[in-house]
Amino acid sequence: QATSIPADRVPDMGKRQLLNLLLLGALSLPTAGMLVPYATFFAPPGSGGGGGGTVAKDAIGNDVIASEWLKTHGPGDRTLTQGLKGDPTYLVVENDRSLATYGINAVCTHLGCVVPWNTAEKKFICPCHGSQYNNQGRVVRGPAPLSLALAHADIDDGKVVFVPWVETDFRTGEAPWWA
Ligand code: FES
Repeated sequence: QATSIPADRVPDMGKRQLLNLLLLGALSLPTAGMLVPYATFFAPPGSGGGGGGTVAKDAIGNDVIASEWLKTHGPGDRTLTQGLKGDPTYLVVENDRSLATYGINAVCTHLGCVVPWNTAEKKFICPCHGSQYNNQGRVVRGPAPLSLALAHADIDDGKVVFVPWVETDFRTGEAPWWA
């Protein structure tokens, strides 16, 4: 019976290691979980297109045709499309019913949740920790440290094409942190 002490210890060690592993998993889960919804929603990577531009795709993966989009998206609308590198990116309809020349990357600059547009508040409000961004994606409340990234939204052959934004961020007058 004296040998039962070391025999007990061995499984204890095993359990502790298992618990540590579980704890580690639990800690990394929230981050992974936040990324999954949009990663799977926008699963097929964009067709690419040369020259650093990517044709915007709608929720079911079709190319976004600007004129068609404007028939179904009114002034002030912000709707997610698939943008550069597959990032969820808002297309913006201006008040004059034209498409804005910029798209807003929906990935929260805090921990990467996809930030929904709140029509009533006219802000992007992150469900994860409450960061807020104005209607152009400029951060107005933390914990997010930075504004949402921009992309150019050009129209090429009738289609909306996102092109990397490397110029000054017009909302802050600063260099783009994402470029
Ligand atoms: Fe958006 Fe934390 S991930 S506020």
